[in-house]
Amino acid sequence: MSPGERRATLVVGNWKMNGSRAANAPLLAALRASAPFPGGVAVCVPAPYLGEVAAALQGSAIAWGAQDCSSHDSGAFTGEVSAAMLAEFACRYVIVGHSERRALHGESDGLVAEKAARALAAGVTPIVCVGETLAEREAGETSAVVARQLGAAIARLGDRIGDTVIAYEPVWAIGTGKTASPAEAEAVHALLRTRLATLSPRAAAVSILYGGSVKPDNAASLFGQPNIDGGLIGGASLNAEHFAAICKAAA
Ligand code: 13P
Repeated sequence: MSPGERRATLVVGNWKMNGSRAANAPLLAALRASAPFPGGVAVCVPAPYLGEVAAALQGSAIAWGAQDCSSHDSGAFTGEVSAAMLAEFACRYVIVGHSERRALHGESDGLVAEKAARALAAGVTPIVCVGETLAEREAGETSAVVARQLGAAIARLGDRIGDTVIAYEPVWAIGTGKTASPAEAEAVHALLRTRLATLSPRAAAVSILYGGSVKPDNAASLFGQPNIDGGLIGGASLNAEHFAAICKAAA
């Protein structure tokens, strides 16, 4: 990294379809009580909880966000939530293109890029997820897959890619307890970094998070890699003590 160029450290909890009003309140209170953290921290929660999560975290160092948004602005799209609606709840982030949405909801690279564009237009930072499946890794296609996924976002967003966060989440490491080794993760992050750096100095400064079975005991070694700027945390973000420990590992 050139002098003067600083990448923000960030740890984001992805609650996925977990939580309840009864469980959320103590989790958020415990998380608030664990601050300060050395870097940025956010939780991406199911949309119905955004109002109460915003109220619980208002004035704290912890930001909040959502896990998806529509690729449309408004209209007859039953079940969809627009980026502008997320902005009304002061969401700082929205995850787009998580592998679960790509796999279970057939989301294409183009659709994910469009969602990222809507988020940016609404003033919400998209966290654009990329990552290969086990079959793709075993076929030696990891580089090509993540380059294609990132390339679609770059093609749609242009220089505004510099206003996004990228998350590398190898699909085979999600919820499996099988973490990519720090070296394996770093290799892909370095590749993504190179691709961003060829675009512009702003793009070079984008934070790239690692996700996939990050736990308190492996967070520091992952976050210690030169091109890993933090994490996107699933299961461990549902436990305040574990999540706080991971947040503190991102120095
Ligand atoms: P786990 O941390 O549960 O593996 O989930 C990772 C993830 O998918 C975060 O978006």
